[in-house]
Amino acid sequence: GPSVNFFEAVGGEPTFRRLVDEFYAGVADDALLRPMYPEEDLGPAAERLTLFLMQYWGGPNTYSAQRGHPRLRMRHAPFRIGAAERDAWLRHMRQAVDRLDLPPELTATLWDYLERAAYFMVNALEDP
Ligand code: HEM
Repeated sequence: GPSVNFFEAVGGEPTFRRLVDEFYAGVADDALLRPMYPEEDLGPAAERLTLFLMQYWGGPNTYSAQRGHPRLRMRHAPFRIGAAERDAWLRHMRQAVDRLDLPPELTATLWDYLERAAYFMVNALEDP
């Protein structure tokens, strides 16, 4: 019905957990991205991304309760994100999105956001 938001339409929390777990499985094996994550254990980073995405799409506001305002560009400022990092991030995310096997319209909505968000996070020119 009209009151079902995107978070609910895709299956709620379990769907976002599957998405982010799959994404971080890719990051764990990525020679470019893995060294960017300061913590040995990727679990806490996965939890933050899961809670952020759930909140963004209309689920519980647990992310902001724990972390405050997202301000994602500011939070990414310590990391050098050029086109190569963006494309690697998107490659793992695309694989994770595809594995959710959502209806095409929901996949398109989710992907459109993730792709735009990743381009928005770029903060470095390619040439040093
Ligand atoms: C945090 C890398 C794009 C959402 C992080 C961290 C790294 C990182 C290294 C720190 C790990 C942590 O402590 O959580 C990247 C790279 C990107 C990218 C290389 C390539 C474009 C995105 C996008 C989103 C996002 C597009 C959202 C759609 C987040 C969130 C956090 C985070 C929510 C945790 C922020 C916090 O509460 O501290 N990212 N990121 N990232 N990233 Fe990204």
